[in-house]
Amino acid sequence: MMRSLFLLFACALGADAALADAPPAGKRIVDQVCSACHANDLSEAPQLKQPAMWTARLAKGRDALVHSALNGFTGPTGEEMPPRGGRPELTDAEIQAAVDFIISTVSTPTTTRNTP
Ligand code: HEC
Repeated sequence: MMRSLFLLFACALGADAALADAPPAGKRIVDQVCSACHANDLSEAPQLKQPAMWTARLAKGRDALVHSALNGFTGPTGEEMPPRGGRPELTDAEIQAAVDFIISTVSTPTTTRNTP
């Protein structure tokens, strides 16, 4: 809720250039699938609203993150990222778009200032 309001606000300010890299499908999939964990304080998943949780992951590079999203990933704490977010029907291209959207969300300063 906070995030979508913020994105509307960002677009109203003409900050949409920062989001242009992410195809719309990416945002839709993140909202519908990935947010269940990645925008859920009850989950141990790295949160979209907390870019600091992504710093070390971003350092691995986009390809590594796409690989994790496609095949699943278990970190040192034993928390599990399920393959394709648990949705095997999603295509490789859709998963890539979702990862690109996540990357743009957590690495764009204008979208990282909405923590309370
Ligand atoms: C059932 C919960 C859940 C769902 C749904 C989910 N994730 Fe995750 N994801 C996790 C958890 C937990 C981690 C952290 C794993 C760890 O490193 O301990 C994670 C980590 C990641 C990472 C970082 C992987 C790495 O190599 O560091 C990416 C990228 C990612 N998720 C993308 C996605 C995408 C894209 C979707 C939607 C298609 C998605 N996730 C849906 C739980 C989820």
